[in-house]
Amino acid sequence: MQYDIKDKTLASKGRLRIEWADQQMPVLRQIRNRFAKEKPLAKIKMSCCLHVTTETANLVRTLKEGGADVVLCASNPLSTQDDVAASLVMDYDIPVFAIKGEDRDTYYKHLIAAIEHGPDITMDDGADLVSLLHQLYKESYLKKIIGSTEETTTGVIRLKSMEKEGTLRIPVIAVNESETKHLFDNRYGTGQSTIDGLLRATNILLCGKNFVVCGYGWCGKGVAMRAKGMGANVIVTEVDPIRAIEAVMDGFRVMKLEQAMPIADIVITVTGDLNVVDEHHLEKAKDGVIIANSGHFNDEINIEALEKLSVSKRQVRDYVVEYVLEDDRKIYLLSEGRLLNLSAAEGHPAAVMDMSFANQALAAEYVVKNQSKLENKVYVLPHQIDKEIAALKLKSMGIEIDKLTPEQEKYLSSWQFGT
Ligand code: ADE
Repeated sequence: MQYDIKDKTLASKGRLRIEWADQQMPVLRQIRNRFAKEKPLAKIKMSCCLHVTTETANLVRTLKEGGADVVLCASNPLSTQDDVAASLVMDYDIPVFAIKGEDRDTYYKHLIAAIEHGPDITMDDGADLVSLLHQLYKESYLKKIIGSTEETTTGVIRLKSMEKEGTLRIPVIAVNESETKHLFDNRYGTGQSTIDGLLRATNILLCGKNFVVCGYGWCGKGVAMRAKGMGANVIVTEVDPIRAIEAVMDGFRVMKLEQAMPIADIVITVTGDLNVVDEHHLEKAKDGVIIANSGHFNDEINIEALEKLSVSKRQVRDYVVEYVLEDDRKIYLLSEGRLLNLSAAEGHPAAVMDMSFANQALAAEYVVKNQSKLENKVYVLPHQIDKEIAALKLKSMGIEIDKLTPEQEKYLSSWQFGT
């Protein structure tokens, strides 16, 4: 079922927003201009499973300019921006299978529609497309695929476990592993957009609140940093001792979630793991706590346990459900435990997605150019591509940096010190 709301008003709103985002995406725009001339993706069919946002629209436009026959489906049932979907279909002639708030069945029907496009390359955010391809289709569609690209940490973890098990049947480029992706998108993108989602959903004052961040990976670091900047008292919970010390030395309090729950006003999960906020944590929750997730999947908060502990629930604002426990304590769950930043807000700002999606576009080109050499493994893009993206981004910001002198280069490549 292709996106079929042929609503001109909606599409024209989407188009303006896509153009607005494009102004903040100079690196992707340069790639698009080159792709339009060189057509590196000519005759390539692509199925992309990404959050349907203005930034993604500019990526799929770029792939199309490169000659690809592209279709797009959503990588999360709540993250689709319907005006963007309408504009892609009506203004850019790119089929989209997605609608905000779609149920599980529709979500999977849309993934299947994207697979039935018969792609040579797939592009994933969370590995749902690749995993469904491997589970349902085996030979028929898999054998045609020359490669796939993956956007996010969770997807890369899933794909590496397929590689380790020996079940991965296609080459994958782990775009998340590029430095110009995770150092910026995961940290500054998730940092800002999570606070944005929290504020749009609740309009609470952050300063003075006890703000718990579960997980101190790149995303957790970003959320903690931005919450601190807004004046919250940030507490970090971790399972990794090295990350935990890092959080301590970055100036945060670190403790077990169980110890944090009785004082937490806000809890945000960004771990990529299951039941991080579990029943025994919920039992200890402070009255009025707001709990949300900015990790990829909606399984970081044990919602079943929350349902079980509650005597009633009601929707009190868009994206906010109030659960009342037996002793009358209230717990507020945001966005059904799904990605807060993409459901209640618009995801990462375009200026940061510029680098992430430059990596995606160049990864697709890389797959085409290197198809004869790629094995069924998880690859990272060459570091040179990463550096080129960073250099283009700096240039677009009007920032110049120094160069090593020949003397310095020689010094650094020599093992003999002194004169
Ligand atoms: N992931 C996080 N933010 C995003 C955005 N704005 N567009 C697409 N994918 C995203």
